[in-house]
Amino acid sequence: MSKKIVIAIDGFSSTGKSTVARKLAKELGYIYVDTGAMYRAVTYFALENGFISEHKLDKEGLISELENIHITFKFNEELGFAEVYLNGENIEADIRTLKVSQHVSHIAEISEVRRKLVQQQQLMGKDKGVVMDGRDIATVVFPDAELKIFMTATAEKRATRRYKELLERGHNLSYDDVLKNVITRDEIDSTREDSPLVKSDDAIEFDNSEMSIEEQLSSIRQLVKEKLA
Ligand code: DC
Repeated sequence: MSKKIVIAIDGFSSTGKSTVARKLAKELGYIYVDTGAMYRAVTYFALENGFISEHKLDKEGLISELENIHITFKFNEELGFAEVYLNGENIEADIRTLKVSQHVSHIAEISEVRRKLVQQQQLMGKDKGVVMDGRDIATVVFPDAELKIFMTATAEKRATRRYKELLERGHNLSYDDVLKNVITRDEIDSTREDSPLVKSDDAIEFDNSEMSIEEQLSSIRQLVKEKLA
């Protein structure tokens, strides 16, 4: 059987991690796991079920409901990627809103939430042959991952990309709000107590501010080749 590895791609919000990770997984015939989508799914659940209101988070209430949150991914042949389901309902579009983005970092600070999702992520990658993107993949989920990539780009570049993406999806919002969200999330994600976003010592850093997706892919392909050799 051919050798399979775990590829961990961590980095700041809106660095284009998922686009690169998804394409890479497709090329390699690997599973792709968007762990950010899982934190977004829990946030969507919290919003829908009244655990978040007027900037108040009912943390204990949400924790007591965690066992009733079932997140799954199902490949959509037409779209060419796996969509996220919450308790059997397709919530792929619902989790990409600015509202979810504005609350998700606080949900991701909750250790009980992290423990549940990390366990599921480890299970999904147990047979290797997986590309997983997130914030703590190289440090917590798969500290032994064979290839670790850390993505960065300036906040302005990232906000511009995210702004365009949201406009294309029909969302009506301002660039300034998107930039503010990108900066705030970076701050919360990097300074939280449990599993903060940090570059693993053995991760390879990519500043993709001026790199195309193809340029990033081509560099990563080379690294994969070396690891598989
Ligand atoms: O990758 P994303 O922007 O969709 O992630 C949404 C949020 O989820 C992000 O602000 C931080 C959190 N997250 C996390 O804490 N750990 C991960 N492995 C992935 C995402």
